[in-house]
Amino acid sequence: MIIVKLGGSVFSDKSGEPENFRKEVVKRIAKELATFYPDTDFIVVHGGGSFGHPEAKKYEIRKGLPEDWNTAHFRRLGFTLTHQAMLRANALFIESFVHEGLPAFSVSTSSVFITENGEVTYGDLEVIERLLELKFIPVLFGDVSVDLAKGIDILSGDQIITYLAKMLEPEKVIFLMDVDGIYTGKPGEGSVIQTLPPDEIDDLLEKLDCSARDVTGGICNKLREAKKIAEHSEVWFVNGLVPGRLSGAIRGDGFGTRIVP
Ligand code: IPE
Repeated sequence: MIIVKLGGSVFSDKSGEPENFRKEVVKRIAKELATFYPDTDFIVVHGGGSFGHPEAKKYEIRKGLPEDWNTAHFRRLGFTLTHQAMLRANALFIESFVHEGLPAFSVSTSSVFITENGEVTYGDLEVIERLLELKFIPVLFGDVSVDLAKGIDILSGDQIITYLAKMLEPEKVIFLMDVDGIYTGKPGEGSVIQTLPPDEIDDLLEKLDCSARDVTGGICNKLREAKKIAEHSEVWFVNGLVPGRLSGAIRGDGFGTRIVP
């Protein structure tokens, strides 16, 4: 089984209009997956992109639910609205995947996981495992979450994948991004690291600019999660906007960054 994370900056322009969706890109990604299905089982996790992020920021969901009724009430409404925005993104994914003949099935993240400060502390994977056995492609997404410490929080797709990797031990986890992989410096400045040993990730994190551009922390969060995932599975970071890169990572001979346990 392979887990594919479709980053928000692949399927949408994160600095563009709210809820913009790159239908052609998602269609092409679905076509690439369709050439490997059903021989390979997949779980797909997509990010928030131009759907979840603007709402999560506007309502300051990561600050949780305070004592003050008015602020808490504003956030409760925002919690619902952020989730609804994610459901709209998810519906567009399912539609594109089904159109390419893939039995993608939506699994609503916030109904399956409970977090503590944004990290998964509980996840009910029973349905996901059964769906895989029945040859469905479960599609999860970064979402809001009920949080044991803060009341509510945001659960990033990257955190979901760390939990899934620990519990399900996939053969590989592939992160699709809008750049060619992990760079030695800022994207476009350094060069792409083709093989990254997990024990070099901490040194690399010190060199990168980790000032978060969105509520879930961008590339540095992905790298921290990748270090944990690499205890269970091979991890790839590839450019999801370039045709064929996903297929290359699935085959194991593609261009991008590979982290081998
Ligand atoms: C964020 O999920 C979910 C919400 C903001 C509701 P991710 O952290 O996985 O999203 P991307 O890939 O960065 O857009």
